Amino acid sequence: MTANSSSPVFTTQFDASNQEFVATGVFRPRSIADIADELLLLRDKIETVQGVFYVNLKRVTHMNSTAFRALARVLVDASRSRPELKIVVVASSVVTWATQMFRHLSELSPNISMEIYDSAFYPGQTFVENQSFIPILRTQTKMTWRHEREILPRHGLRNGMVIADICCGIGDFVMLVRREFNPARIVALDHSAASLDYARSVAEEFCVRDIEYTYGDASQMLFEGDQFDFVTCRHSLQIFDRPELLLRELYRICKPGGRVYITNEKNSHCLGEPRADSIQWTYNEVARLFRYFDMDVEMGPKSSRLLLDTGFEDVRIESFMVTNLDGDPQEFADVIQAWEDVYAGEMSVRRGDSPEFIERFRQGFKDHIFAALHPRGYAGWPIWAASGQKPL
Ligand SMILES: C[S@@+](CC[C@H](N)C(=O)[O-])C[C@H]1O[C@@H](n2cnc3c(N)ncnc32)[C@H](O)[C@@H]1O
Repeated sequence: MTANSSSPVFTTQFDASNQEFVATGVFRPRSIADIADELLLLRDKIETVQGVFYVNLKRVTHMNSTAFRALARVLVDASRSRPELKIVVVASSVVTWATQMFRHLSELSPNISMEIYDSAFYPGQTFVENQSFIPILRTQTKMTWRHEREILPRHGLRNGMVIADICCGIGDFVMLVRREFNPARIVALDHSAASLDYARSVAEEFCVRDIEYTYGDASQMLFEGDQFDFVTCRHSLQIFDRPELLLRELYRICKPGGRVYITNEKNSHCLGEPRADSIQWTYNEVARLFRYFDMDVEMGPKSSRLLLDTGFEDVRIESFMVTNLDGDPQEFADVIQAWEDVYAGEMSVRRGDSPEFIERFRQGFKDHIFAALHPRGYAGWPIWAASGQKPL
């Protein structure tokens, strides 16, 4: 069924291994007859399962009342004729109407429930979506931009392109790209409401109205495929526990012939002089701490493999070192301080580390700051920038 020529097609399918009925697209039939086949599939498949039956609406962007009533009828009837069966409707916080519409079904039938899959969907979410992550993002982009403004053209970024920055955080990067590369259109998506609020308020303050900030899950984006010339995803594949899902989505929304650009770190290679040993110890522990929360901050050198495995061609990779010599050393010291506050002050505490461990962990950051500010010192943070082309 097609809603109209410019809307995404509505599709349904049944995934037997997950006992899941998956619907996607715009669900706006003029009458029940228009969706007879979809309803029949749903009715038939409910009959085939035992235990739990999932109705996945994560990617249904619109639904009219005809569709809702028809779907609800089938689910309520099934729950009454098979009281032993549990029916779980899975929706996303991105599609707010679905939550409101389907929540009421559990009042009609106690064996129907609603699940918002992205309220807690990856282990690092509570840290990175939190307001306390904002100082990290603010200080980091300031330091990396000096390098990336020169690196980006080597990866294919040109003036006038249609660009998406996925997992945009507080939007500093899109602001800088907008100013430097004058895009035809620029979209920025993130799942942190706090970061997006911050991004929108900065844009408003600077009277910037042409950045399209979007709340969404990068692993289940509602954007149509094949539409962006250049897609960026910085420091985020390493945060999400299933980076291959994000990469598949970055690939999908990129135009054939367009490029996807990613940056990732290798935290255990952060370094400094003097006090190298203490610094080294702490950053090895940073990598272990993130691994504990299913995040891989050692991902940088794996970028080529990840891009090739996703199907990209003409993969380009380079690394750069942010250092205290890049500009005002205090700016790098601010980055390190922001890391200490969140990594030692929040994440290590959440893991249940002892006060002795946390003290030693903090000391490495303090020593890194000492090295950064020392007149004869050196402090570094290595980053890998990589990109691949989606085949034509
Ligand atoms: C380390 S921050 C990097 C932010 C920004 N790219 C930067 O470099 O400043 C990681 C960001 O990824 C976002 N993120 C992680 N997984 C996501 C997902 N599945 N969907 C949308 N955003 C996600 C987080 O909310 C966070 O803002």
